[in-house]
Amino acid sequence: LIKRPLLGRHVLVTSGPTHEPIDPVRYIANRSSGKQGHAIARAAAGLGARVTLVTGPVALPDPQGVDVVHVETAQEMFRAVERNLPADVAVFAAAVADWRTAAEAQQKLKKSGDKPSLDLVENPDILGNVGKLRSGRPLLVIGFAAETANVAGEAARKRKSKGADWIVANDVSAPTGTFGGDSNTVRLVTADSAEDWPPLSKDEVALRLMQRAAEHLGRGAAAA
Ligand code: C5P
Repeated sequence: LIKRPLLGRHVLVTSGPTHEPIDPVRYIANRSSGKQGHAIARAAAGLGARVTLVTGPVALPDPQGVDVVHVETAQEMFRAVERNLPADVAVFAAAVADWRTAAEAQQKLKKSGDKPSLDLVENPDILGNVGKLRSGRPLLVIGFAAETANVAGEAARKRKSKGADWIVANDVSAPTGTFGGDSNTVRLVTADSAEDWPPLSKDEVALRLMQRAAEHLGRGAAAA
């Protein structure tokens, strides 16, 4: 039990980017590699949890011993998360596209000489929805905040506005090399504390985070 403190727990993790189709050959995407989210899924499984990983398109192999659900769009990711609740711990590491096209063109768009425009609509906030669930909310809801400025302020604001228990905040401005890289310098913001962690590998961030989650659950009431 010491070595497998998440035994009997279900951990749900989102990872990677989402792809929002524009037409049959084009999509909107972002620079998320999925490395941190996949590392969290591996770490949780290593600590004994049953793990469901809902991932957007990434170049990474499926982690062993983890149930992996592959999705493309934010709406698909949201549905996959809903279908795979309840969970004891839910970690939202995916870089979900904020917008999708209002309607996907059925044929490839052609150049016309005009100034082209895309009609965008907002995607559902998956973390925000799960964080504010009135029934069936996970015992511990963890979000990420990838910021390029005012990391501490944004993390605290997002924790509250999204109903998360913890926010793992990181600086993803270009010189940090966090996007796509193997290391991460994060700040863990909880209801009553904020800790700056030293630069760590994404595997080490994942392990520490899941160990903290296990400690947190150990103190509270056990879920079914
Ligand atoms: O994009 P934003 O900074 O708001 O993301 C913060 C957190 O919210 C991340 O944990 C991300 O996975 C989550 N999120 C989400 N659904 C969205 C947008 C963000 O789950 N549509």
